[in-house]
Amino acid sequence: DTERLAGILALAPVIPVLKVAREADAAPLARALVDGGLPVIEVTLRSDAALGAIERMASVEGAVVGVGTVTRPSDFRAARDAGARFAVSPGFAADLADAAEGAGLPFLPGIATAGEAMAALRHGLRYLKFYPATAAGGIPMLKALAGPFPDLRFCPTGGLNGENFRDYLALANVVCVGGSWIAPDALVDAGDWAGIAGKARAAAG
Ligand code: 3PG
Repeated sequence: DTERLAGILALAPVIPVLKVAREADAAPLARALVDGGLPVIEVTLRSDAALGAIERMASVEGAVVGVGTVTRPSDFRAARDAGARFAVSPGFAADLADAAEGAGLPFLPGIATAGEAMAALRHGLRYLKFYPATAAGGIPMLKALAGPFPDLRFCPTGGLNGENFRDYLALANVVCVGGSWIAPDALVDAGDWAGIAGKARAAAG
C-alpha cells in the first residue's frame, strides 16, 4: 500500500481538500479539477453528501478520489466501497492504521509531533500528512523532522494557500501539499467550475 500511495501522491503537486454539500456538484467539480491539472482529490467526511460525492467523482475520467477527515475505523470500508482509492485522517491512531490495512486502502494519516510520526512508522507508514501545517510549526518543523526521520515524506495541509504552498513544495521531505484554497466553499456553492479550474491550473503549473 505504501507504493500505491507514493504513486498517487506523485501525480500532482496539490491535493484539493473538498467539502461537498450537494452530491450533484461532485462530477462537475471533479471534472474542473482534472481539467485544471489536479486529478488527486480529497473528499472530506464533513457532509452527508460525502460518500455519494466520492462515488460520483470516482467515475470521472482521470480523477483519483480519496476520502478525508477519516476519524473512525468503519469509515475506511465505507469509503473504499464508494470508490475511494486512498484515505486521509487529521491525526494518527493505531486502530485507524489497522482498519486501513483491513480495507486495503492506502492511508495518509496526519501527524504533528515526533511521537506521532514514530507511532505511524511502527505501522509501516512512511507517507504522512503534516497537519495542521502552519499552526504546527510550518516549514521549520518539517525541516526539523527531516533530521531524526530522513525516510519520512510529508503532505503538509492546513493553512496553506496560493502564496505559501510553493515554499513547502521546495522542501526535500515534501511530496505534495493539500488544501481547501483550490475549491473554496463560495466557488463550489456558486457552481463556478471555471473559476475552480483556473485556481487548479494556477497551482498545477
Ligand atoms: C484538512 O482537512 O485537510 C484541512 O481542513 C484543510 O486545511 P485548509 O482548509 O487550511 O486548507
